[in-house]
Amino acid sequence: MTPIGADQTPRALSRALRTWSRIVRATIPALALACLPAAAQRSASPSPGQEVALVTGSTSGLGREVALRLGARGAHVIVHGRSVERGNEVVDEINAGPGSARFYGADFASFDQVRALAEAILRDYERLDVLVNNAGFGSAPNERLVSEDGHEFRFQVNYLAPFLLTHMLLPLVQESTPSRIVNVSSLAQQPINWDDVMIENDFSGGRAYGQSKLAQVGFTFDLHEALAGSGVMVTALHPATYMPTGMVRRAGAEPRSTIDEGATAVMQLIVSDKIESGLFFNGLVPQRAHAQAYDLESRRRLRELSRELTGLR
Ligand SMILES: NC(=O)c1ccc[n+]([C@@H]2O[C@H](COP(=O)([O-])OP(=O)(O)OC[C@H]3O[C@@H](n4cnc5c(N)ncnc54)[C@H](OP(=O)(O)O)[C@@H]3O)[C@@H](O)[C@H]2O)c1
Repeated sequence: MTPIGADQTPRALSRALRTWSRIVRATIPALALACLPAAAQRSASPSPGQEVALVTGSTSGLGREVALRLGARGAHVIVHGRSVERGNEVVDEINAGPGSARFYGADFASFDQVRALAEAILRDYERLDVLVNNAGFGSAPNERLVSEDGHEFRFQVNYLAPFLLTHMLLPLVQESTPSRIVNVSSLAQQPINWDDVMIENDFSGGRAYGQSKLAQVGFTFDLHEALAGSGVMVTALHPATYMPTGMVRRAGAEPRSTIDEGATAVMQLIVSDKIESGLFFNGLVPQRAHAQAYDLESRRRLRELSRELTGLR
């Protein structure tokens, strides 16, 4: 371990502080219990050199399959969702194979819970090689819901929460280069109406879902530009159309593809050395996203609004 003070760069200092915090927790069990996030379950830790990946929304559907595939490749997977029971099932399955895993619960409808999740990961991990922003809430029910923080529900769960989480985890991702951020979006993108971002008029679940998915893509392009040359690759994708997952079942849609197809598309963005940063993919191939995601003025407005709503400086 580098002693605190030996190298005073902010990165070295934050790494040293995290290492120190881990040592304290390992040697004083009572303190360890007090320091663990309330929602952290199971205790598998990454071994030296093991890749660490966070897959949000990995308690079911697409995220679950991506988490299992990462585990099968030997990674340490941070499994996330709201259901402790389903999260622990995924963790147990990964821990039975070559990989390892741990579950962290957080409801993305609460910024406090997103912040607690990011703080727990920054405290518990020395590296984060892969961040897959996959957690999402679909278009059904066709009802305007509001988050704990008072925002239109899909906009917060699908976009603002991963915006906040990604920014908080970015120092760790940048310390872990070459690293990757994959934003699981959709072809269902719809433009944001700047006069009514929280969709108080003419609400539809499809519109709410669609604008949250467009915001994710705009965020991807911004992040790619901000991180150019840093060794962090940032991409977004539509994984597959109507996979048989929870959100598709709730919408009553007939499945048209498999979870395997979607997971293969996500895995390509995680592991392939043939793809470029800053692109939106439809499955396995790059495709143009909705025009508003390329509009610099829209992106500036989205960035400023997101910083203000999430309290990021
Ligand atoms: N299914 C498709 O055909 C399709 C197509 C295009 C894009 N996508 C995208 O693929 C991603 C995965 O969706 P899926 O199809 O696999 O759906 P899913 O089976 O419904 O899974 C959604 C995941 O997100 C988590 N989640 C939902 N609300 C949450 C909240 N408030 N806070 C924290 N976590 C939350 C869920 O965790 P809990 O259940 O534990 O709460 C679950 O793990 C989404 O971003 C979706 O937009 C899916």
